[in-house]
Amino acid sequence: SKKLTIGMFGFGVVGQGLYDIIKTKKLNLEIKKFVIKNAGKTRSLPAELFSTNPNDILNDPEINTVVELIDDADAAFEITKKALTSGKNVVSANKKMIATHLQELTALQQQHGTSLLYEGAVCGSIPIIRNLEEYYDNELLHSVSGIFNGSSNYILSKIFNENQSYDTALKKAQELGFAETDPTLDVGGYDPKFKLTIVASHAYGLFVNPDQILNLGIDRLDNTDIRYAKEKNLKIKLIPLAKEVSNSEVVLYVLPKFISKDSILFNVENENNGVLVKAAFADEQFFYGKGAGGHPTGSAVLSDITALRYDYRYEYKKHLDAQELRYTTNVDIKV
Ligand code: HSE
Repeated sequence: SKKLTIGMFGFGVVGQGLYDIIKTKKLNLEIKKFVIKNAGKTRSLPAELFSTNPNDILNDPEINTVVELIDDADAAFEITKKALTSGKNVVSANKKMIATHLQELTALQQQHGTSLLYEGAVCGSIPIIRNLEEYYDNELLHSVSGIFNGSSNYILSKIFNENQSYDTALKKAQELGFAETDPTLDVGGYDPKFKLTIVASHAYGLFVNPDQILNLGIDRLDNTDIRYAKEKNLKIKLIPLAKEVSNSEVVLYVLPKFISKDSILFNVENENNGVLVKAAFADEQFFYGKGAGGHPTGSAVLSDITALRYDYRYEYKKHLDAQELRYTTNVDIKV
């Protein structure tokens, strides 16, 4: 199969998780260069593999694959644009960058015959994008919802099951490498909103600016909400929803919701994620697994890297008459 020569941006939680996995396998790929922000850090790999100059990857004609695993969405966008434009394929796990620029990035791929894959950006280890791509073409999905943010779910689990305080649980989620560098993105519901935006493009062929989508996070909850839920044997979960509300409209939002025992989401705990897909003929499917952490997310990134060997590309329901679908802010809060 095609040999992949990789340039990797970032060597944080996901980058190191990916590297751990790659080094245990015999794969037809080589990581030629790592570009990182902070040259001073001690690393477990030879110093000559590292650089702080993006051009050491972007201008190297031998590198055919860019793996982008940095935090900064603006810098990630510049890197991704340059790579796709210069004939390199890109694998990214940057939810914010992808959600914000997806339409432009899909156009760039078409123009330059390159491919951008990002399974690791949505729900960690769960191969949800690949699956959404594969649903029966003519059958619009009724809804896609679930638990898309490991950190918020971890915090809620600790509050509900172990009576921990919000602050202690958040600190632990940060220590375990689940949270974003700025955890407001998690607890404010932005991270799951970016993931929902990406999900909507694969489920419905719909490109929406995440700024237009309502998100309320678990940072809005207070002790009264928690006490009420416990009294009624409910849990609170942070729920993103994409749902077809009429023949031509799709609603999207992220809200904390009361969840009862009869929901499959009730027992999704800690950093696990779950994606619930409802469809007319297929009925219901549920995808469950680790939604955050270096190894689970690294495994999804590796699935994309290996898919590039057979030139895998996303289709975004191109064959559907997607123009007919519109995003509506008319919020109907039933899952
Ligand atoms: N901060 C994210 C989460 C990481 O908690 O789910 C995985 O995208």
